[in-house]
Amino acid sequence: MSRASVTVLRGFSRQRSRWRPSVVERARARIAAGGNVLDVPEPLLVSFVGGSQGRWTVDRMTTITGPGLPEVERLAVLEGRDGQATSGVWTLRGVTSNERYVERRERVALVERQQGLDRADATCAALIPITKNLAWWELTQDERRQILEARSRHIAIGLEYLPGVSRRLHHGRDLGEEFDFLTWFEYPPDHTTAFEDLLARLRATEEWSYVEREVDIRLAR
Ligand code: HEM
Repeated sequence: MSRASVTVLRGFSRQRSRWRPSVVERARARIAAGGNVLDVPEPLLVSFVGGSQGRWTVDRMTTITGPGLPEVERLAVLEGRDGQATSGVWTLRGVTSNERYVERRERVALVERQQGLDRADATCAALIPITKNLAWWELTQDERRQILEARSRHIAIGLEYLPGVSRRLHHGRDLGEEFDFLTWFEYPPDHTTAFEDLLARLRATEEWSYVEREVDIRLAR
């Protein structure tokens, strides 16, 4: 190896180890600065701990498809690695990630309309863990996009419910979790009927024929 390339490599590794914060630190810094993890592809680990503690009271838990989850009274939503140490009756983990299917014009529409989490008036929430079947995961990316948007209109339907409903999508599949996705929504009480309407429309789509497990957990604070 030439002297020049050694210098470059040394410089690169020194630089990385000195200044590069972890992805969780970067996501936290962005939120602290008034940013929104919905806008940026910064992975943030989130633990949803069901038990007797937490900010959210469970109103009801409904098993839509496949095995359910044990009933709990409260839910804590913990961001970052701290959540890993917390125990409850169950803990579901997922990580926010870059988008897989959104096209540029859809991204523009989403960013224009969506609101962040933790709005003062959004005192209702839904945690809907979802797992899709093997047939879904055996499709290619372009085949999945065809089903999710070209034929099921998931993004177009969802956009109709913004900005009333705030959302955050967490991926569990690559973490080896029992659910592929942990979908989280917050909305004001007067958006409850609209949220039910959104769910009914999505569950009637071709995309949902690939869902093999779904639990609908409604919360209030
Ligand atoms: C509030 C309105 C909604 C909007 C604007 C919306 C938007 C989106 C978008 C843009 C994606 C694609 C993300 C990507 O490109 O990777 C997505 C994925 C997803 N959404 Fe929604 N959504 C909404 C409501 C819902 C609801 C109510 C559910 C669950 C009942 C849901 C479940 C999912 C799931 C499971 C995925 C991941 C799909 C996959 O990767 O296979 N969404 N949503």
